[in-house]
Amino acid sequence: MERLTEVPSRASPDSATATPLLDVRDLTLRFGGVTALDGVSFSVCGSELFAVIGPNGAGKTSIFNCLNGVYRPQSGSIELGGESLVGRPPAAIAALGVARTFQNLGLFGHLSLVDNLMLGRHHLMRTGFLSGMVWWGRARREEIEHRAAVEEIIELLELEPYRAMPAGMLPYGVAKRAELGRALAMRPRLLLLDEPVAGMNLEETEDMARYLLEVRRDLGVAMILVEHDMRLVMDLADRVLALDFGVAIATGPPERIQRDPKVIEAYLGGFVSDSALSHALPHTLSHAFPHDHEGRRGAGDPRDTGGAS
Ligand SMILES: Nc1ncnc2c1ncn2[C@@H]1O[C@H](COP(=O)(O)OP(=O)(O)OP(=O)(O)O)[C@@H](O)[C@H]1O
Ligand SMILES: [Mg+2]
Repeated sequence: MERLTEVPSRASPDSATATPLLDVRDLTLRFGGVTALDGVSFSVCGSELFAVIGPNGAGKTSIFNCLNGVYRPQSGSIELGGESLVGRPPAAIAALGVARTFQNLGLFGHLSLVDNLMLGRHHLMRTGFLSGMVWWGRARREEIEHRAAVEEIIELLELEPYRAMPAGMLPYGVAKRAELGRALAMRPRLLLLDEPVAGMNLEETEDMARYLLEVRRDLGVAMILVEHDMRLVMDLADRVLALDFGVAIATGPPERIQRDPKVIEAYLGGFVSDSALSHALPHTLSHAFPHDHEGRRGAGDPRDTGGAS
């Protein structure tokens, strides 16, 4: 399989044994008779790029919604840097450093790109409007500090040419990058990426892959990637968790996951014999999830909205 991009620095091989930033244990989430997550456990280290894959309905979005407090799991624990997240409201979880990008973009269309990124920093601002008038010196210093942080993100993601453009007028690939910028402006410790290349062409996908690697290298943010583009996942992820019907069927480096018979069977429903599958997964999976996502749930799925933005 042709590589999307050069991978300069995967997290060190022993990152899996380091103290995790995020520790998820036995997570179970039910909706009536449907078990969306069934005793799922995994951990993510600081600056690790961790991917979650699985067929439609496997529970990927449900994991994000538990992590950012939109859903409350029936049982299990979620700890970020040793602090429990279960039961906290989404805003409190965002304040602890969990940011999320949205598949359907969380930008305000009429605001400029810069203002959208400044809004991403809102929860970090200590000075409100009234106190800002009284303590104008402090408010001004804070404003300068926030602008500098936003400028750093604009530079990193090469968004300079678009800074004054209303977000609603940005070309699609740039808007997805701006959405990444908005989430990064929250200065997260953990970034949840919900299908960051959905609907992108190959060139835009390659660009996004490069930016994600740069974000990890320059900002050291841990990321969880939910993505149907298997080439992107296998190229970028340090480790992959494969889900099927809410159950974690495999966790490990991409090379191992794409040869795991259980993972292959989950995608193909057991149509093919094990021997025929041994090297077939990347190819198979890119067919299982074509780029245009036809036949998948469309934009506007209520389960993909809400959260820590
Ligand atoms: N709010 C909800 N109410 C009822 N059932 C839900 C809800 N959210 C998720 N589910 C169910 O939980 C299971 C997991 O759904 P989830 O959206 O997490 O899957 P997914 O892996 O993100 O799928 P996709 O790839 O299609 O986005 C599915 O059976 C789904 O129908
Ligand atoms: Mg989903």
